[in-house]
Amino acid sequence: MSKKILITGGAGFIGSHVVRLFVNKYPDSTIVNLDALTYAGNLLNLKDIENKPNYRFVKGDIVNADQIFSLFEEYQFDTVIHLAAESHVDRSIANPMEFVNTNVLGTVNLLNAARHFWEKPYQKERFYHISTDEVYGSLGDEGLFTEETSYDPRSPYSASKASSDHFVRAWHHTYGLPVILSNCSNNYGSHQFPEKLIPLFINNIIHKKPLPVYGKGENVRDWLYVEDHAAAIDLILKEGKLGETYNIGGHNEWKNIDLIRLLCGIMDKKLGRDPGTSEALITFVKDRAGHDLRYAIDAGKLQRELGWTPSVTFEEGLEKTVDWYLTNEEWLRQVTSGAYQEYYRKQYNS
Ligand code: NAD
Ligand code: TYD
Repeated sequence: MSKKILITGGAGFIGSHVVRLFVNKYPDSTIVNLDALTYAGNLLNLKDIENKPNYRFVKGDIVNADQIFSLFEEYQFDTVIHLAAESHVDRSIANPMEFVNTNVLGTVNLLNAARHFWEKPYQKERFYHISTDEVYGSLGDEGLFTEETSYDPRSPYSASKASSDHFVRAWHHTYGLPVILSNCSNNYGSHQFPEKLIPLFINNIIHKKPLPVYGKGENVRDWLYVEDHAAAIDLILKEGKLGETYNIGGHNEWKNIDLIRLLCGIMDKKLGRDPGTSEALITFVKDRAGHDLRYAIDAGKLQRELGWTPSVTFEEGLEKTVDWYLTNEEWLRQVTSGAYQEYYRKQYNS
């Protein structure tokens, strides 16, 4: 069935993988990518699909309610997949208001537009909100986050995402809006802006720059390959139950320092450097304020109810990721130079 799908944040890391998957898989659907092209959004991520007939890019800001309403009016969307967000914890510590604006107000603007344009009884309409496991807070050595775990966000980023999740559920309970949510663990893969741990460290290793490990490197994250996340989003959109939440994760916990050592070994091999060269760049630095100790997802519901499992092992995914960054050093250079983003900002503002 043909659909009119709005994907927000489609020029970002996960969003670009979701846009690519949907544009290629659903040629009869119209896919509109709405993105503000912040420092994290980059149309280079979508070069391979930008001329497909079922794809449109719109530069716009989800905080601007008028713009969102006009876009709904123009395209009459029946599906929203909402990924646009400020996504980096360190930036949220430095500048929390941007996170409140984009992640909270932006989400409510989208909910309002969907409620305004969609008519009951809702049939094919879906508002799919993409969220994070960080809303559940921090675990000790034991236990996993399930869909029933109480929210306990502890960083400005996770507080803003938790707030947006609550608003999405409130629009379901109060107005009956047909929503679905998923909360995913840390993603890694190609096209991730080099400020998050894995791409930052790959970039620093290439340039023989220090690798800043926060605290003692003992914090634990549960890593999922980004294409597996995109596949889960596709499945949940089609088969997930309205009003429900699905946790997505790779059952793949790594202590930061162990992951960094694994990455250093892969990089030494790929770059033809002596073993130990990259590890020598490790530098322990002051810990992140309020640094959550451990995240770990129980993705059992998604597996039991919808049959989803990750397709790649961490070792395979990490190697593919490293290969992508090494063959796309020009991408790394451009996204870190700022010149490219300035170019697109001007082009789409004119
Ligand atoms: P990202 O920072 O790479 O991309 C975010 C995108 O949103 C960018 O293209 C940016 O330009 C756009 N954007 C930001 N503010 C906007 C605004 N006001 N209006 C329109 N567009 C705007 O983020 P990501 O890592 O791809 O994360 C995408 C979503 O997935 C987020 O909602 C995030 O909370 C969630 N998530 C991320 C992870 C992860 O590990 N990266 C894990 C779980 C959930
Ligand atoms: P990050 O990629 O920022 O994701 P999140 O904080 O959302 O989990 O960080 C992953 C882990 O790596 C986290 O425990 C913080 C740590 N980290 C460092 O030790 N050094 C760094 O330079 C960065 C960016 C992160």
